[in-house]
Amino acid sequence: MLCSNQEVARAIALLIGVSVITTMMTLLSLSMGREPTPFWSLPVINNHSFAYIHNDVDFCTRNKIDILLVVPSAAANFVKRQTARDGSRGEYVQNATNHAAMLFFLGKPSVNENMTTIQQEIDQEAKVFGDIIQEDFEDVYKNNRLKSVAMLRWISKYCTSAKYVIRTDDDIGINISSLVPVLERTARSLDNFMIGRKLVNDVPARDVNSKYYMSLREYPKRNLPPYLLGGLVGYPASTAKLLYEAALRVKPIWLEDVYISGMCAPYVNVTILSDPEFTFQHKSPAS
Ligand SMILES: *[C@@H]1O[C@H](CO)[C@@H](O)[C@H](O)[C@H]1NC(C)=O
Ligand SMILES: *[C@@H]1O[C@H](CO)[C@@H](O)[C@H](O)[C@H]1NC(C)=O
Ligand SMILES: *[C@@H]1O[C@H](CO)[C@@H](O)[C@H](O)[C@H]1NC(C)=O
Ligand SMILES: *[C@@H]1O[C@H](CO)[C@@H](O)[C@H](O)[C@H]1NC(C)=O
Ligand SMILES: *[C@@H]1O[C@H](CO)[C@@H](O)[C@H](O)[C@H]1NC(C)=O
Repeated sequence: MLCSNQEVARAIALLIGVSVITTMMTLLSLSMGREPTPFWSLPVINNHSFAYIHNDVDFCTRNKIDILLVVPSAAANFVKRQTARDGSRGEYVQNATNHAAMLFFLGKPSVNENMTTIQQEIDQEAKVFGDIIQEDFEDVYKNNRLKSVAMLRWISKYCTSAKYVIRTDDDIGINISSLVPVLERTARSLDNFMIGRKLVNDVPARDVNSKYYMSLREYPKRNLPPYLLGGLVGYPASTAKLLYEAALRVKPIWLEDVYISGMCAPYVNVTILSDPEFTFQHKSPAS
């Protein structure tokens, strides 16, 4: 097909335009390559500035704490918290040679519960045990990302002197003594990492009745990124600060484990690892 002069001229103009833009973009990326923007100067898009209902800012400075166990717990889970205190985790933190402590992280009771009564019981529990950190976001399962960020925020603000953090659900049975050596061994070759049970090529639950339902709108991709199951995860306390800063900047999805270990960790180059010691099972409600 023959082209008119006008068409040729237009094509040449287009080519010149494209190459000018390409050159500018190359120059721009080169200059950016020389001085990469540090991630912490990127905008905060998830400002986590909830007030504390219960806090203990000196918790980690009063005592020497090397191992901090953090346990996300639903506001009304009084029994599960007591079971954890009475179980092997409680035994581990009671043993002074371990320099360990355990803290429970709560939101505020939901309006669908007996809000006032539950809060009064939490106030009492906090007074008796001194192991409750509570922020004023609504404590519902859909807010589990906020609770995870609350833990990262608290550690990076008030417990930077700890060596390792072990995050466990309130209803699992585990042996902390066997996890600490895994963390120590890994820290010899990596500064920032998370260890747990890694899932690769997992897919989002698309059934609206699933507890873990994720809409296409919230997460359009077919596969989830590699991530660690939230129930049992360990990391150096210094890694918490990186994850917290990432969580202020990475577009959120509600499932906290996929979000923190699958999306925030790679954003700040935190390696995620599997280890067989980090297997766990939820206890049945009866046990
Ligand atoms: C986060 O929220 C606090 C309190 O509302 C506010 O002072 C601060 O400017 C906010 N920061 C950003 C980055 O939006
Ligand atoms: C405390 O832990 C140390 C070291 O793990 C162990 O040797 C000791 O038996 C424990 N003490 C108690 C009372 O369990
Ligand atoms: C609220 O408290 C009342 C009285 O103690 C009790 O009967 C009811 O089951 C409670 N409701 C919830 C949702 O916990
Ligand atoms: C917990 O793990 C430690 C270290 O691996 C081991 O010595 C101990 O026997 C274990 N305790 C239980 C109750 O399994
Ligand atoms: C992550 O690694 C990349 C590539 O090495 C580097 O450009 C970036 O600055 C690192 N980010 C952080 C937060 O360390």
